[in-house]
Amino acid sequence: MPRQFFVGGNFKMNGSAETIKKIIEHINDAEKDPKTEVVIAPPALYLLLAREHLKAPLEIAAQNVFDKPNGAFTGEISVDQLKDANITWTLLGHSERRVVLQEDDAFVASKTKAALDGGIGVIFCCGESLEQRENNDTVKVVTSQLKAVKEKVSDWSKIVVAYEPIWAIGTGKVASTEQAQEVHKAIREWLKNEVSEKAAEETRIIYGGSVSEKNCKDLCKQPDIDGFLVGGASLKPAFVDIINSHL
Ligand code: G3P
Repeated sequence: MPRQFFVGGNFKMNGSAETIKKIIEHINDAEKDPKTEVVIAPPALYLLLAREHLKAPLEIAAQNVFDKPNGAFTGEISVDQLKDANITWTLLGHSERRVVLQEDDAFVASKTKAALDGGIGVIFCCGESLEQRENNDTVKVVTSQLKAVKEKVSDWSKIVVAYEPIWAIGTGKVASTEQAQEVHKAIREWLKNEVSEKAAEETRIIYGGSVSEKNCKDLCKQPDIDGFLVGGASLKPAFVDIINSHL
């Protein structure tokens, strides 16, 4: 079975109640490829507002979730709370959290396990810095981030892997189709060798990093690119063109 094309919109720490409602109305009203699975990730404060306004079958993701159940964890949100709010996905391991908030591989993997155990899908972000790429360490870095998950998780059916080279995020410097395809292929090989043939065949591997309505059509033709995780452009009407990359 072909893998369903997946487009996520990561709003990061952007927007207000008014602008997020407007973005959602635009997405609701636009003609969208029904074959694309679409998930948007607004800031935590607006998850309920987004859930209220976004029309099915589109889904909402949190940008983060904690790995402990409810309790004395100031500032955190639990998996049960997301489920209570009908939030069915979460991003995890975004490089902005790995770098700025110093989340390490083990912590990201632990949160991935908690989300999956609770029945929430995970858009798991991985990717290398410019320095790591220049040292030819890209595949080593990405697979070690994935390996931390493998140590805690056996069922990969609710994981979407987002390959996001850090040097391409928010820089306007998109990875070339060849660069992206090469890493996606390496991730799929890793899944085949380290998890299972089924995981390699069925796991969506999406690309993130300066995706726009201009570059999405070439990128989506690559055999191992199953969609996109979009930052800046997800706040603009162009997001719909990315959802419709295949049309
Ligand atoms: O998670 C999406 C991301 O980090 C890419 O951001 O703004 O380069 O599309 P952007």
